[in-house]
Amino acid sequence: MEACKPVLNTGLRGVTIASTKISDVKGAEGKLVYRGYRVKDLAGKISFEEVVYLLLFEQLPDKEALANFKQQIAEQRAVPEEILTAMKAMPKDSLPMDVLQATVPMMANYDPDLRKTDINSATRMAVRLTARFATIVAAWDRIRNGKDPVAPEPRLSQAANFLYMLNDELPDDELAGFMDTGLVLHAEHSFNASTFAAREVASTKAHLYAAVAAAVGSLSGPLHGGANTRVMQMLLEIGEVGKVDDYVTNILDTGGVIMGLGHAVYQVDDPRARILEPMSLSLGKRAGDTRWYDLSKALEVKGKAAFKKKKGKDIFVNVDFYSASLYYYMGIAVDLFSPIFAISRIAGWSAHVIEEQFGGAAAKPTLYRPESDYVGDYCGPDECQFVPMDER
Ligand SMILES: CC(C)(COP(=O)(O)OP(=O)(O)OC[C@H]1O[C@@H](n2cnc3c(N)ncnc32)[C@H](O)[C@@H]1OP(=O)(O)O)[C@@H](O)C(=O)NCCC(=O)NCCS
Repeated sequence: MEACKPVLNTGLRGVTIASTKISDVKGAEGKLVYRGYRVKDLAGKISFEEVVYLLLFEQLPDKEALANFKQQIAEQRAVPEEILTAMKAMPKDSLPMDVLQATVPMMANYDPDLRKTDINSATRMAVRLTARFATIVAAWDRIRNGKDPVAPEPRLSQAANFLYMLNDELPDDELAGFMDTGLVLHAEHSFNASTFAAREVASTKAHLYAAVAAAVGSLSGPLHGGANTRVMQMLLEIGEVGKVDDYVTNILDTGGVIMGLGHAVYQVDDPRARILEPMSLSLGKRAGDTRWYDLSKALEVKGKAAFKKKKGKDIFVNVDFYSASLYYYMGIAVDLFSPIFAISRIAGWSAHVIEEQFGGAAAKPTLYRPESDYVGDYCGPDECQFVPMDER
């Protein structure tokens, strides 16, 4: 009898591996929902801290709960001095995502809740880690530029404090507000590559820090969170609107990808991109130089049309497309764009790890363990015969 051929779902596309109550992405409709709320209804109306609360505690906070939660976050922002000392010893040209990833298991050793196994301890760890990610990223940018890290300012929001720690200067309301909205939009996106990495590690009963370290590594890739940095590098390479046509033609003819276009789930525009776009334009106008916005828009229009012509199907902008020029207008170093994604997505990863550890919406085997399709040798119908070293 012929052996059963395994069903191959390469890349896990279309495979549902667990239930979740945290978020939903409806790719065909361009809908993103955090705990039942549409993100387009939240953006610009609520703060990143409110989103973190929503993701971790399953409901929006009232005024008092939010004030307490903001205070908790602010109190947890300082990173142990030993970690800053270790960062100062790292080569100054280390990639910021690598530095961030390296500090995550180091921070585990300073967490008083690490060895506790109840959900309240897990949530406290999540808040601590969420509070500290921004501090690490800002501190690294200063350290690598030969400057001292700036201590967090507890009166500021997570977004404003990040910009303050980066520049040693208080941001104005518009900049802090745009950064806040950016963080709100990046906080959660269901079972994407990095979240899946976090959940897979959590399914082994490893702790939050181990799971998050894996997630940061996953996010660093150019097909995932690394794309926003690549979008800006692409815009800088193109340089002017007049060169967009040639760039697009060349990239599609040589089998390359236009960064910031395409998505594994959305079959229409990513709803987050349409919120980020006017913010990029607004900062361009404020700077008196809309070149990076104009270039992005021209690339979107030309890229979509050329892709359709070449492949006979549509392609759409994703979240990384307009966040690139937005952060660039904020004066942020290009290689910090992906770490900014991480200082927001830490909220979603944490919620998923907690859901994995303490029960999701439906029972599943504890440990993730997919099958593989072995296509290597068997040396004929049987296994290969072992040949001792002196007979090979
Ligand atoms: C995100 C991404 C990996 C999703 O890809 P996907 O839905 O799995 O689609 P595939 O990678 O299978 O691509 C399908 C086809 O479209 C092409 N394609 C997809 N995105 C493309 C892009 N941005 N530019 C040019 N071609 C693209 C692929 O090359 C492939 O062509 P082929 O059928 O001739 O091999 C892909 O769109 C991409 O690489 N985008 C650029 C990176 C990016 O912005 N990442 C951030 C995602 S939020």
